[in-house]
Amino acid sequence: MSGSSFPNDFLWGAATSSYQIEGSPLSDGAGPSNWHLFSQQPGRIAGGDTGDVACDHYQRWREDIGYMQKLGLNAYRFSLAWNRIQPEGTGAINEHGLDFYERLVDGLLAAGIEPVPTLYHWDLPAKLDEQGGWANRDSADWFADYAEIVWRRLADRVGRWTTLNEPWVIVDAGYVHGVHAPGKQDLSLAPLASHNLLRAHGEAVRRYRSLSDGQIGIVVNIEPKDAASDTPEDLHATRLAEAYMNRQYLDPLLRGSYPTEMPEIFGENWPRFDDEDFSLIAQPLDFIGLNYYTRSVNRAETQASPVPAAQVRQPGAEYTELGWEVRAESLLQTLVWMKQRYGNPAIYITENGAAFDDPAPDSDGRVRDDRRAAYLLEHLRASREAIAQGVDLRGYFVWSLLDNLEWACGFSKRMGLIRVNFETQERTIKDSGHLYREIIESAGGRLDQEG
Ligand code: FCB
Repeated sequence: MSGSSFPNDFLWGAATSSYQIEGSPLSDGAGPSNWHLFSQQPGRIAGGDTGDVACDHYQRWREDIGYMQKLGLNAYRFSLAWNRIQPEGTGAINEHGLDFYERLVDGLLAAGIEPVPTLYHWDLPAKLDEQGGWANRDSADWFADYAEIVWRRLADRVGRWTTLNEPWVIVDAGYVHGVHAPGKQDLSLAPLASHNLLRAHGEAVRRYRSLSDGQIGIVVNIEPKDAASDTPEDLHATRLAEAYMNRQYLDPLLRGSYPTEMPEIFGENWPRFDDEDFSLIAQPLDFIGLNYYTRSVNRAETQASPVPAAQVRQPGAEYTELGWEVRAESLLQTLVWMKQRYGNPAIYITENGAAFDDPAPDSDGRVRDDRRAAYLLEHLRASREAIAQGVDLRGYFVWSLLDNLEWACGFSKRMGLIRVNFETQERTIKDSGHLYREIIESAGGRLDQEG
């Protein structure tokens, strides 16, 4: 492989989200979020961890921008906590919440780092959950009203937005399996919540177009699905798993209809949706944000729900601490699939990274996270190969800037380029962070070196 082939204006970033890093959940007039309440319920988060302090980024954001500069990032993806801006989710605006994100945005711009905000990365004002959350059809307007409040303050300075992070996880973890807030296990709510998330995205995009000529997209998580064997049962289960996770959102967004497999997956819980909804959902987007971590290998499993498939571990393969197979070639496959199926949309990889059991800092202070460094090299090489194959890939964000609260796993899983000592809040750039800086400085040329 030769030379760099990343575009000159490629975004080299890292990503975080509000509840996972900020702490100070109720400060300066914020209302409680769904995750704030969820984390207080015994047994919801490993080790009884909460986001009460997390990385204390709410107070240390200046220091954290300094670390982004040390890494050489030219972009930073973060999310805004809706509950800081509208404490009850609708109605009254808390200006202090907007002030916080305005200071952050201005600090990033002054540091030469493009802010790439996500409007919703899973922390919903708790009051809205009391009204049914995303299963309530009004949620599309709640979200678009909130988005408009944010844009009226920040759209003059920020030109690239994403609406929602990973609608599939919001619904599968929050409404089907109950392992994320709001902790529901109700198959009749799931398609409604998914559909309303898509409508919320669409309504927000519609309003953005009337306010700004900047760029807007959505973030989806895609995981290629391979069948464990070529028996008809395994192939069928794998196709359903793939429709459920990978096409349930991208098809309506980019092709204007749900995959034909959806009624089979949800049975009597699959509703009839209004035709008009699809023109709202399928408005032209400027880009798609892709979160890629792994692939899965599937076999038929009739007891599993809503998709009758179970994942099979691959002997000899490498897995992360989250149990996700490390497989960069599946990232290439995903990018090429998106190009082919959806007409070559502009794509940013908005998350990619790995949880490993990092060694503690050595006596020389270094964190030798070799496996994460190797993961980055392999996945960035796959990204470069995708560009060579004609994929319109415009940026890459490592998950994550900092070790942080990995949702239901709490602080037990570390994914940062920067180690956080959660007792002292001390930050240490890991070896993977130093490597990432070299990759950025060389505009990708570093990928040609071994190791
Ligand atoms: C994604 C989430 C992100 C992080 C990574 C590991 O699903 O968007 O917040 O938890 O997984």
